[in-house]
Amino acid sequence: MEIGIIGAGGIGQAFAKHMAKAGYEVLLSNSRGPESLTSVAEQLGVNVKAATLEEAAQAELTFISVPWSKVEEVLKGLPSFKHRIVIDATNPILPGFKKADLGKKTSSQVVAELLPGAKVVKAFNTLLREVLDADPNEGGGNRVLFYSGDDVDAKKVVGEMIRKAGFFGIDLGDLATGGRLQSFPGGPLSTLNLVKSD
Ligand SMILES: NC(=O)c1ccc[n+]([C@@H]2O[C@H](COP(=O)([O-])OP(=O)(O)OC[C@H]3O[C@@H](n4cnc5c(N)ncnc54)[C@H](OP(=O)(O)O)[C@@H]3O)[C@@H](O)[C@H]2O)c1
Repeated sequence: MEIGIIGAGGIGQAFAKHMAKAGYEVLLSNSRGPESLTSVAEQLGVNVKAATLEEAAQAELTFISVPWSKVEEVLKGLPSFKHRIVIDATNPILPGFKKADLGKKTSSQVVAELLPGAKVVKAFNTLLREVLDADPNEGGGNRVLFYSGDDVDAKKVVGEMIRKAGFFGIDLGDLATGGRLQSFPGGPLSTLNLVKSD
């Protein structure tokens, strides 16, 4: 499966590295264009390629890891994600580390509204960048990753990606329920670094 990544900072690169190691083809994009990412992509794995935003957005599955303040403008400029899986790793933090006001919605419900018909799965947002980047096999166990979403089949796909990358995935339910548990800041599971051992 080919995975497109929109946002190639700390989270996008950590995710790219794990997915490349798990054997997926990865297209990495940012706001400055592929030429700014060529050497970064090379370092992350042989199956990671620098790409345009449009190429990353048209992959079989797309991962979003841009700052919250950019989410709407980035997604509005891209072709439809209808029927495709989008992993949302963003957190609703505004410049100055202020929490965005989402009313009663979770951040991924807001993202899902921007992507009509897409199958949005919230994942990879609760661990700090350094922790997500580290080897998920720790002390003989597997680092825990939480995920949630409204589409059961999409969650199966994402759960398998998480497993193949060496993490232990825990499905928290739909975007309203799981998204709240996963939300950063304030959600009870955010920043929690757990390792599942046998
Ligand atoms: N840092 C953490 O520990 C952490 C943990 C979990 C979740 N998160 C969430 O994950 C998301 C990414 O965080 P990060 O720490 O990886 O951020 P980051 O290091 O600042 O990277 C942001 C990336 O987004 C790209 N970007 C910004 N505006 C864009 C646009 N208009 N179009 C395309 N790409 C654009 C940037 O590309 P350019 O440099 O080319 O502009 C950059 O590659 C945020 O929502 C954050 O809240 C962060």
